[in-house]
Amino acid sequence: MSSDSFELPSFAKVNWLLRVLGKRPDGFHELCTIFQTVSLCDRIRFEPADDLTLECSAPAIPTDGTNLILRAANLLRERYGVRSGARLVLEKHIPAPGGLGGGSSNAATALLGLAVLWDLEVGFPALTEIGASLGSDVPFFFYGGTALGSGRGELIEPLPDFEQKYMMIVTPAIAVPTSAAFGGLNLLPLTKNDPESILELCRKAGREFKDGRQVPANDFERSIFATFPEIERVRDRLVEHGADLALLSGSGASVFAVFEKEETRQATLKALGNETDWRMFAVATVSRDEYRRALGRAWRLFPISF
Ligand code: C5P
Repeated sequence: MSSDSFELPSFAKVNWLLRVLGKRPDGFHELCTIFQTVSLCDRIRFEPADDLTLECSAPAIPTDGTNLILRAANLLRERYGVRSGARLVLEKHIPAPGGLGGGSSNAATALLGLAVLWDLEVGFPALTEIGASLGSDVPFFFYGGTALGSGRGELIEPLPDFEQKYMMIVTPAIAVPTSAAFGGLNLLPLTKNDPESILELCRKAGREFKDGRQVPANDFERSIFATFPEIERVRDRLVEHGADLALLSGSGASVFAVFEKEETRQATLKALGNETDWRMFAVATVSRDEYRRALGRAWRLFPISF
């Protein structure tokens, strides 16, 4: 193994708030969301190589050109005329799909890692532009911590870190197709004057969340719970065992919970041990500083101040 090889974590996210506000002319939906990085993470190994290849520890994850990691790599290669390849090895822990942003996080980490490996002068605007072209959630992963997402989710404004130590993520064995989840909301098209007032509304929600006046909520819950009662059962069991909050993440199928005490979280993990089809993870929030430190090697080359 070359000494130029290195490894980066690729963290999962949950959404403290997810409001879907209306349909846009481009087919996407206008969102107001509050993202949060959590400690559950994949790991990506970057090794110099002549060819570009991807390997993954999880057989169900495609390692061909459809994988967001390779799509990110190919976009960088085209844009910066890179001739070198890379051997990329993905150690997968984040359930996919799961509403935890695993694929988007992998794409963001791949862009950062490859820019280091190939020694590219990529500025933050280019990074976020390439990221947004790969997926609406990708730009958030250049920030980490707690952040407001508007537009289709790609316009990010950092918020003060919101810390929770005793969290749990439960992912039942259900694949929720994201585009169908949006379609299932049956929202009206936005009118011309909406975007400006929506951004203001979204910023207000961000301020109120900081002050504790905006309670966590997810607009997908009603339709997703109706279509997949098993996901609602996850939420109900978490609440029944003493979670202070249990909420769908993204369009699911993961539900995340917050506990006041470690003992309650441990007791819940134990009590749900008989649910053999559910994957369970004890996690904590990852602040923006912790996030940037964990991606240290990449951040040294991308000193972004905000
Ligand atoms: O951007 P991303 O690739 O994650 O989106 C996946 C699908 O989810 C889109 O093709 C679209 O159908 C839907 N979507 C949406 N509005 C958003 C984000 C995603 O309708 N803001």
